[in-house]
Amino acid sequence: MDNNNHSGAIQAQAIRAGYGQHIILEQIDLQVLHGGITALVGPNGSGKSTLLKVCTKLLAPEGGSVLLNGENISRLSTREMAKRLAILPQGPVAPANLTVRDLVEQGRYAQVGPFRMLRRQDHEAITRAIDLVRLNDFADRDVDTLSGGERQRAWLALALAQDTAILALDEPTTFLDIGHQLEVLELVQELNREQGMTVLMVLHDLNHAASFADQMVVLNRGQIVGTGQPWETLQPQLLQEVFGVDASIISDPHTDKPLIVAHRSALRTGTVEAMKPANV
Ligand SMILES: Nc1ncnc2c1ncn2[C@@H]1O[C@H](COP(=O)(O)OP(=O)(O)OP(=O)(O)O)[C@@H](O)[C@H]1O
Ligand SMILES: [Mg+2]
Repeated sequence: MDNNNHSGAIQAQAIRAGYGQHIILEQIDLQVLHGGITALVGPNGSGKSTLLKVCTKLLAPEGGSVLLNGENISRLSTREMAKRLAILPQGPVAPANLTVRDLVEQGRYAQVGPFRMLRRQDHEAITRAIDLVRLNDFADRDVDTLSGGERQRAWLALALAQDTAILALDEPTTFLDIGHQLEVLELVQELNREQGMTVLMVLHDLNHAASFADQMVVLNRGQIVGTGQPWETLQPQLLQEVFGVDASIISDPHTDKPLIVAHRSALRTGTVEAMKPANV
């Protein structure tokens, strides 16, 4: 297929997916802009991780297809996928007694030669990835001895060591303090701007999503209910219907991006449909 003739780096079409009998996503069409940052947002349980898993071939859909730069991922091997796309899953667990460097090394296995020996460029990529997340002093520590935030950065380094054109991140700022949250998001932005990396990331913080994403996709109960640039997507009515909050949206004086000030949750009053599990 012609790799240049595509409108999105990831194009998911008519996706129907779930776990056994439990269908979570119905009729999902998603376009992840080539060379852009797309933020996937939505309430807990709305299907964000499920959609990310479908887009990254960790979960086979019941229906529909996913194209990666025009290629149907159902025809790509795990190794071919790993050369094109790196994923930071939600809540990954490392095997015991694995150092940070060992973990990040895993990111090179799709790239190494037939003898599966790490070459100089693999070692360089591993060191660069550890540098990028500033875990140099922790490289020889066991992953299970790290703090939550340090561990999250070690997993991010694994994804970065893969050196792919597409990065899929499921809540990359979990466990991080506000300074490290911004550090990770700024790093992602830098990779996007300087290397043209396409990014699809799940974020809970709507203000971070608004400030770092070119495109936002809002998921609610397994369906896409909003998509577009942050200013067009984040509307008070959508925040009320999807997240059950009353909110003012003001312009961030520093960035001119939308800034949400949530006043009140309507969830406790039970007046909104949001937060009910998908398709129940
Ligand atoms: N492995 C699984 N088996 C069965 N059901 C699952 C599985 N993983 C997720 N689900 C269900 O699918 C629905 C969507 O889950 P998903 O993890 O995609 O939500 P999410 O939007 O990522 O939520 P969160 O913000 O809490 O991470 C939930 O109701 C969840 O319980
Ligand atoms: Mg999730």
